Amino acid sequence: MRALRQNWLPALKGAYQDEGWHHLGAAVELPKQYHIDHLFKKEFRGRTIDDGILTIGLESTTTEKVSDFYTQNPFPNYDEFEDIDSLINKSEKNVFMKSLKREIGFSKTIIEVGSGTSQFSINLAARTNNNVIAFDPTRASLVLGRDFARRNGISNCIFVNADLLLDPFEPGSFDVVWCSGVLHHTRDPKAGFKIISKWVKKDGIIIIGLYNKYGRLRTVFRQKLFTLFLRSQFGRRLVFLLDPILRKDISKEKKDAWFQDQYEHPVESLHTFDEVSGWFEDEGIEFVTAYPKADFQDFDFRNLLKKTGKGDAVTRFYAQVGMIFSHLGSEGGLFLVIGRKS
Ligand SMILES: C[S@@+](CC[C@H](N)C(=O)[O-])C[C@H]1O[C@@H](n2cnc3c(N)ncnc32)[C@H](O)[C@@H]1O
Repeated sequence: MRALRQNWLPALKGAYQDEGWHHLGAAVELPKQYHIDHLFKKEFRGRTIDDGILTIGLESTTTEKVSDFYTQNPFPNYDEFEDIDSLINKSEKNVFMKSLKREIGFSKTIIEVGSGTSQFSINLAARTNNNVIAFDPTRASLVLGRDFARRNGISNCIFVNADLLLDPFEPGSFDVVWCSGVLHHTRDPKAGFKIISKWVKKDGIIIIGLYNKYGRLRTVFRQKLFTLFLRSQFGRRLVFLLDPILRKDISKEKKDAWFQDQYEHPVESLHTFDEVSGWFEDEGIEFVTAYPKADFQDFDFRNLLKKTGKGDAVTRFYAQVGMIFSHLGSEGGLFLVIGRKS
């Protein structure tokens, strides 16, 4: 694997320089200056990267509250990944991720909004000439990502500490905007979507992941149970018995992080396909597909960005209720919607 990486690097070096991004000579230490200023609106330009992280700031007290929450337990942690090879190997086993990476390809400008510890961003940056921005208001999470990137010589992932509600980027800056597990933790998810959808280039894609109002019912039931038992140790133990993720053979740290994220989060909202479909229409984003599919057809992982039907009110309802009984319901009820800027 090391030999493979060495063969790749000289070939990619030219590509970075052509793009006017930054060069792979800085493969170990993240450079202080990047050519990303043009992506920012004028009032946010000219800032330097301090110790590998470019800081913009936070917009609201809700974001401060959420950021404090993740500072206690940055999510997700890197415990299971020794190095970049193990991170990439895991994503290669995930059929969705593998297909998405193939569809995105190379030479793209990508942002992960609410990147947390930025595993997705680092994965999309590694061994490519993509320019990736890992964007999150929680500095402690970005620090974990930055350290992992440094240790593994990944210099084409740039860490930006900011709140999406500040809207710091010029419209049409990114080929791909990925925002999963984030908007439902903001004070106004629809306003957040409106902002980030403007960052997509014409013909670029946006992928959002949100808690589903129906798909998350099992988690909501356990949340209520925990509250009913006054959030006590007994209530916690009960939740540990009932939650399929907490019953898995995973580390204590992972379980604690999952419990905190699912049962103690200070800000959380639930959403539906129809609601998100309306957001897409309002912002001129063409619906491409959704996971799970909204029209009762099988999801075509090999053609992730192929336009599919939205189904009708009945199929959409059943698709969301169906989540309750699938792995999606066991894993917190997150659904993905993919769109293209027309
Ligand atoms: C559940 S974590 C998801 C992390 C990552 N997207 C993933 O799926 O692994 C939610 C993330 O959203 C971030 N977040 C919350 N409010 C945000 C905001 N206003 N702007 C950008 N990110 C935000 C949090 O800091 C946190 O890292």
